[in-house]
Parts: sequence; structure tokens; C-alpha cells
Amino acid sequence: MCVELFSLRDKVALVTGAGKGLGKSMALALSESGAHVAVVSRTLSDVEATAREIQENGVKSLPMSVDVTKQEDVIRMVEKVLSEFKTIDILVNNVGTFVGGECLAFSLEDWHKILEINLTSVYLCSKFVGKHMVEKQRGKIINISAALGAFGVRESSAYCASKGGVIQLTRALAIEWAKYNINVNSIAPYATETDMTRIMLEDEKIRTAIISKIPMKRIGKPADLSGIIVFLASKASDYITGQVIFVDGGFSVQ
Ligand SMILES: NC(=O)c1ccc[n+]([C@@H]2O[C@H](COP(=O)([O-])OP(=O)(O)OC[C@H]3O[C@@H](n4cnc5c(N)ncnc54)[C@H](OP(=O)(O)O)[C@@H]3O)[C@@H](O)[C@H]2O)c1
Repeated sequence: MCVELFSLRDKVALVTGAGKGLGKSMALALSESGAHVAVVSRTLSDVEATAREIQENGVKSLPMSVDVTKQEDVIRMVEKVLSEFKTIDILVNNVGTFVGGECLAFSLEDWHKILEINLTSVYLCSKFVGKHMVEKQRGKIINISAALGAFGVRESSAYCASKGGVIQLTRALAIEWAKYNINVNSIAPYATETDMTRIMLEDEKIRTAIISKIPMKRIGKPADLSGIIVFLASKASDYITGQVIFVDGGFSVQ
């Protein structure tokens, strides 16, 4: 009974930014639990590689080159997934990027870029996948925010603001769409080993400083998100909405 609660057999998931890092790892975790998974990023060869690994789990995958900051791309993406799979049960809004720098030296161009990639993409994908979920009166949306969406750090104002926006968008949509049985939740990681953080974490001084702020005394790994993504995508979390789950080794509770 309990295992069935977590099964994603015959469900259809769409994961953005699944060419590498956390998105790829979460797409694979969903497929291991039985979901068919559509995977998107701008680089087609990356998501084609992810799709091949997903198919090894005995489920279907659809790789697509999509820029999720562009409305026309997002509309085309949703139409293609629906024409291939007939439904979308789970949306993982994972795309995001980091540009650091002191506010006074930060360009307006970089500000817009961060807001578009980290926040506007979540709005666009939620809106056009949400339209389909509202029609079928069911769905699971999981937004990848960040611990830095709730805690400020220096030289990260645009990133912190964008991820704080993702957390608030999660809460607002959770309330708006609760009546349609759509759960909207967020996962907030802290420093995790991916291409996005590689250069920063290769610097021993920075790495040591980051670890000193983590009670569990280690940097996160993409697989640290596997359990929570399956939980939030499955029936096991049907009465949970609008929540932010920190996957951060305890960083946020000090
Ligand atoms: N790593 C961490 O420590 C950490 C901590 C907290 C939160 N997060 C969040 O977790 C998420 C994933 O991070 P990550 O570390 O796995 O990043 P990553 O390794 O840089 O991977 C990002 C993925 O998103 C894709 N992407 C970027 N812009 C896109 C766009 N406009 N349209 C479609 N795809 C796009 C990238 O592929 P293309 O460039 O080919 O499109 C890539 O596949 C982000 O939202 C990030 O802010 C990460």
C-alpha cells in the first residue's frame, strides 16, 4: 500500500533544464518511479542523452530543444508533449542560472536575464501547463527555488530576488489552483555539486566557507533531491500544497 502511494507508473512528467545537473537527476528519479518524462533544455544533444538514460528504465521520453523564457517556445513545448503523451501530470520547473556581483556594479541587462530565466520561465511554464491541468482538474507542479530565495547573501541580489519570487509564485498559485486539485510546491536546495556551482566549489576557500554554514558538513549532491521530487510528484503528497522544502543539510535552520 505504502509503496503504491509513491508510484508514478503511467504518469507523464515534464522537466525543464533536464540536460544536466539537478534537472537531469530529477528526471531520472521520476522515470525510476515509473513516469514517462519529457525533457527540455536549449541544447538538444544534452536532453537527447538524458532521454536515452530515461528509456533504459523502461519508460518513454521525449527530448526537445526549448527556450523556456520565450512564450512561443513554451506553447510549442506543451502542444508537443500533449500530442505525444495526451496528458501532463507533473511539471518540474527547474531551469535557473546564477550571475553574481555587487548591486552597484550589476547591469540592468544581467538583472533582466536572471529574472527571465529564473522567474519568468516558471510563470510561463506554469501558465501553459496549468491551463491543461485546470481542464483535467489534477496536477503536480514543483518549482525549484533555492535557499537563497529565503536568505540573503552578498553579491547575489538578483539571484536572491528571483528565487524569492519563485517561492511567492509557488504560494500564490497553490492558493489559486487548490480548487482544481493542483498541488504547487517548491524545493529549495543550497549549494549542490553541478555545472552551475562547479567553478565556485573548486575554490577551496569558498568551498570551506560554504561547508562551515551547513550543519551536515557536506555539499549537496543532485541525488539528494531524488526522494523529495518523487514524493511531491506522487499521491503521497496529495494534501500538501504551497510548501517550500529546504534540501540544504540544515543550512536554513541555524
Ligand atoms: N546547484 C546548486 O547549488 C543550486 C542551489 C540552489 C538552487 N539551484 C537551482 O536548481 C536549478 C538547477 O540548477 P543546476 O545547478 O542543475 O543548473 P545547471 O547545471 O546549470 O543546469 C541548468 C539546466 O537548465 C538549462 N537551461 C538554462 N536556461 C534555459 C532556458 N532558457 N531554457 C531551457 N533550458 C535552460 C540548461 O541547459 P541549456 O543551457 O542547454 O539550455 C541546463 O540543462 C536552478 O533553478 C538553480 O537555480 C541550484
